[in-house]
Amino acid sequence: MSDEKQIKRITVPKIKKMKENNQPIAMLTAYDATMAEILDECGIDIVLVGDSAGMVIAGYENTLAVTMEEMIFLTRSVRRGVNRALLVADMPFLSYQAGIDEAVRNAGRFLQEGGAEDVKVEGGSAVEAVVKRMVDVGIPVMGHIGLTPQSINQFGGYGVRGREELVAQSLKDDARILEQAGAFSLVLEKVPAGLAGEITQSINIPTIGIGAGPDCDGQVLVSYDMLGIYEKFKPKFVRRYAEVGKIMREAFIQYIEDVKEKKFPGENESY
Ligand code: KIV
Repeated sequence: MSDEKQIKRITVPKIKKMKENNQPIAMLTAYDATMAEILDECGIDIVLVGDSAGMVIAGYENTLAVTMEEMIFLTRSVRRGVNRALLVADMPFLSYQAGIDEAVRNAGRFLQEGGAEDVKVEGGSAVEAVVKRMVDVGIPVMGHIGLTPQSINQFGGYGVRGREELVAQSLKDDARILEQAGAFSLVLEKVPAGLAGEITQSINIPTIGIGAGPDCDGQVLVSYDMLGIYEKFKPKFVRRYAEVGKIMREAFIQYIEDVKEKKFPGENESY
């Protein structure tokens, strides 16, 4: 393969270096090979196979029902579309909370069977030992603190986390704990911008914000939200870059009309 054709893959060390070099990190979710390929071609740095799939793909009310098998299938699908970006697989609820050995085995499945390069887990001090062991055996881990959707029943809703001093302090502590445990980066979800900036300054691994203001080292959104495909609710932090749901509706209505009125297929669409 010629030098021009060689793809410069984004690796875990490169993502860490991006913080050092002040280069913002762009991350989006994908759940299938087709969208992943488009994202990859556009130059995204990180593709996350998020357990948000439970809501935007499976239609569940939250992410709690998502299983390992479902996430492995989605990760394997996305892998086929990603050639350049770093591929992160989100570990579903109960796949890493019940014991360290089980957590490591499940994380390993994402690398072995799913083709991911690393995994993401939610939580701070509660997952410290699990993160340490995964990193020790060669599985890079992205942390996720703030509004962690797998703890939605504990929080009682999707409100901002860290407005109260006590919660803010525990998030700062968690960020440091995860860095020390060996996490290579950290998602900060729905925390006040000032706190996210403070956490970003206080650790050496990149922070990737979602609803965490502009002072993180990178940003992530759920692709179905930013494309306007998932229309059930729109948090303030989502910027809609397109209204794909509207475009889909117009196309489907036109197709149905064409079929009903026998306008499709035409001569040039027939053999
Ligand atoms: O599941 C997901 O898509 C996520 C992102 C919102 C960070 O965890």
